[in-house]
Amino acid sequence: MSYVLLTGGAGYIGSHTALALLNAGEKVISFDNYHNSSSESLKRVQQLSGHSLIDIQGDILDSQALAQVFEQYPIKAVIHFAGLKAVGESTAKPLWYYENNVAGTVNLCKLMSKYGVKKLVFSSSATVYGAAEQMPIHESSPRSATNPYGQSKLMIEHILADLHNAEPDWRIAVLRYFNPVGADSSGLIGENPNGIPNNLMPFITQVAVGKRDKLDVFGSDYPTHDGTGVRDFIHVSDLASGHLAALGYLDKAPGIDYFNLGSGQGYSVLDVIKSFSQVNQLDIPYALVKRRPGDVAQCYADPAKATELLQWKTEKTLEDMVRDSWNWQKNNPNGYN
Ligand SMILES: NC(=O)c1ccc[n+]([C@@H]2O[C@H](COP(=O)([O-])OP(=O)(O)OC[C@H]3O[C@@H](n4cnc5c(N)ncnc54)[C@H](O)[C@@H]3O)[C@@H](O)[C@H]2O)c1
Repeated sequence: MSYVLLTGGAGYIGSHTALALLNAGEKVISFDNYHNSSSESLKRVQQLSGHSLIDIQGDILDSQALAQVFEQYPIKAVIHFAGLKAVGESTAKPLWYYENNVAGTVNLCKLMSKYGVKKLVFSSSATVYGAAEQMPIHESSPRSATNPYGQSKLMIEHILADLHNAEPDWRIAVLRYFNPVGADSSGLIGENPNGIPNNLMPFITQVAVGKRDKLDVFGSDYPTHDGTGVRDFIHVSDLASGHLAALGYLDKAPGIDYFNLGSGQGYSVLDVIKSFSQVNQLDIPYALVKRRPGDVAQCYADPAKATELLQWKTEKTLEDMVRDSWNWQKNNPNGYN
């Protein structure tokens, strides 16, 4: 039986997908340099699933180390999570982002081509829609980027399209994630951001656990139902099952295709804070502050294409997201450390 190779498999979305794959009877290899993760997440994935996986520490920029994986194991598909993802950091260190994300992907694809492994699921992002004007966002909406991180995802989308054009036997699913939140309901694995979190939910949970005094809500004068920004939050376990659906789809469908993975439902920052407080019976002190440059008023998906072609849709509610996020944080106040 052959393996599914996850680059960045120890990270937040990778570890939840590894769990879903093992639970579905797949064999898994993770290849991760632990820049933003540790092998502890994968130890817990194995504990939860009762199945072992192959955990390799390595960098996708290291062609020799990556080639060894293809030499040593039969691989049927790759899910490519490995990447740097902090928007602010990408603006300060663009070359690092382009090298790691874009050159890393080129490296990976060269080796996949060489070893005849031409099935790829790629972690793209709703960020490729830039400041979209039409809601909900459809896969055919115009693409643009407002920062080097988004630009790196957009470049990779172009590279994969060119690759498929040149070598039509590739099967590629480009998954554009909206706002992943939550954690496995066991509370054993979850999001473990280094330093100051970039995203809303880890910020809320760090305030709840007493690591931070209060939450800054950026912008309360947007044209939304309560003035705060609206986003499409998706539970990470739903997102993980979207990857299994994409792999299944690629078994049947040649070509390259693009899918929004979101719920289709927008919630505001205040909706999330209120739900978190109610469900977990916790007070979250927050302050309404100025808009943050680059943020948009609202962003939510039209997920109809994934529903139709991948036969996938989100199952979890906002209540599940806030409950599971807190369950993870309160059981692991310092993440995996
Ligand atoms: N979390 C989000 O909000 C979000 C939204 C849209 C898209 N994405 C994309 O999904 C993917 C996974 O995101 P995540 O939230 O799990 O992030 P994460 O940081 O938890 O996981 C990424 C993993 O990749 C590893 N990695 C980074 N560079 C590497 C390299 N050169 N070689 C090997 N491993 C490397 C990191 O150590 C980490 O474990 C990323 O590509 C990210 O851009 C994430």
